[in-house]
Amino acid sequence: MITAIQPSLIVELGTHWGEAYFTFCQAVEEQSLSCLCYAVDHWQGDEHAGLYGEEVFDEVNDYNTRYYRQFSYLLRRSFDDALPQFADDSIDLLHIDGLHTYEAVSRDFRAWLPKVKEGGIILLHDISPRHDDFGVWRLWDEIKSEFGDTFEFHHSWGLGVVAKGRIGRNSALTEILFDGSSSARENLRRHYVIYASHLENILGRFPLAAGRPAPANTVPDIRVQVFPYAGHGYSEESCQIRPLRPGVWETLTFDFRIPIGLGPLRIDPGSEPALVEIGDVLIHHGNSEDPTWECRASSKERKLSAAGTSRLPFSDTSSFLVSFGDDPQIIVAVPPELSSPAKVTISLRIVPASKQAIALFESFTSQLTHGINRLEQQLKLQTEQHEQQVASLQQDVAAKTGQLTAVRYALDETQQKLRVAEDILYGVQHSLSWRVTAPLRKLMALIRSGPRQSR
Ligand SMILES: C[S@@+](CC[C@H](N)C(=O)[O-])C[C@H]1O[C@@H](n2cnc3c(N)ncnc32)[C@H](O)[C@@H]1O
Repeated sequence: MITAIQPSLIVELGTHWGEAYFTFCQAVEEQSLSCLCYAVDHWQGDEHAGLYGEEVFDEVNDYNTRYYRQFSYLLRRSFDDALPQFADDSIDLLHIDGLHTYEAVSRDFRAWLPKVKEGGIILLHDISPRHDDFGVWRLWDEIKSEFGDTFEFHHSWGLGVVAKGRIGRNSALTEILFDGSSSARENLRRHYVIYASHLENILGRFPLAAGRPAPANTVPDIRVQVFPYAGHGYSEESCQIRPLRPGVWETLTFDFRIPIGLGPLRIDPGSEPALVEIGDVLIHHGNSEDPTWECRASSKERKLSAAGTSRLPFSDTSSFLVSFGDDPQIIVAVPPELSSPAKVTISLRIVPASKQAIALFESFTSQLTHGINRLEQQLKLQTEQHEQQVASLQQDVAAKTGQLTAVRYALDETQQKLRVAEDILYGVQHSLSWRVTAPLRKLMALIRSGPRQSR
């Protein structure tokens, strides 16, 4: 909704822990909108939310100061007391979520309606429950008959969306909400039901991430900065900053309105010594869900480089970086064809460590790397020697094979000659002249053998 209407002023009546309110703030932050946000609550609770103590305001205030202090203000007073602080026709988005009796919510709605701009949006929480004295549903029935542009989400406790007057149809969302076919509207409801249950699923597993402010004494978040290359280098004016919880995998989104492909993207993972794991880096253009460019941690080809006071200790993976603090930098080469405004999402985990631990790790990994390099060199040398031996053996074998072939030829030739001689001999032995001269040969043999020995 924030993307669709690009508000300049958002007001919430009834904030409690700020689950809805900080969602608005986060959207404003992510889209770098020039928008002020006000949360109005006396932070005492009521009959439906229950009464609560100071700790709620303290934590909400802490969280607000920590993340959104540039544009978000907490007005700790009653709705009636806050009313004169807003000019008529000034609010773009009003979220009403105070006490849910018919009387209270009708009063809030009627009193604050003049403060909303023509074409502004009012969100009414809890339009579904009809038990006890919950009465938002009654007011919602009246609103539906009084206003032309309304839409209702039914899941959970229900949310009513009403436009004051005619809203500009300049976004796909408002188009569907107020002019869509019944099937388009139903699909939209389903879409939100799916996302809501997905969120509930995640929050069920990670209760602290439920938007409820973290206790004040937890480790402070790490500031992750992303700099697009600005033609002449990197400048603080064009960088974007997101908080990251230490030790937790998170996906951060940076929406750049300026071209990002003019040179490599620079990521500064905080300024304290830490071990940094870098997951996928994705770039999206427009509203497409598919990235236009991706640099996945699983890709063997991916090459990130480290600059400033950081180092990629392992040459075979660029997903792990050691930051020595001060000014660590990760450099991601982005193809020049992406030189247009885009959204960059980066998954990463930063585990802070003491300087000593990092120094120890560094010396350990560099020893390991030296050891590995030495082994690689030895292995290379041995492989070369083996290859030389194999080559010389192959030469020997080739020479011996040549000799063997020559011997075979000679043998063949001799055998052929022998066969010819045998043929001749056979011919002679079976000739007539041989047979006729046989007695003569016998006589000659007798003569050659000499006189017989007498007994
Ligand atoms: C249902 S809770 C708000 C829930 C919140 N919007 C959220 O997203 O979790 C209602 C809050 O309205 C506050 N409240 C009720 N009536 C009020 C009034 N007249 N003036 C100021 N605060 C009021 C209560 O203190 C309570 O914190």
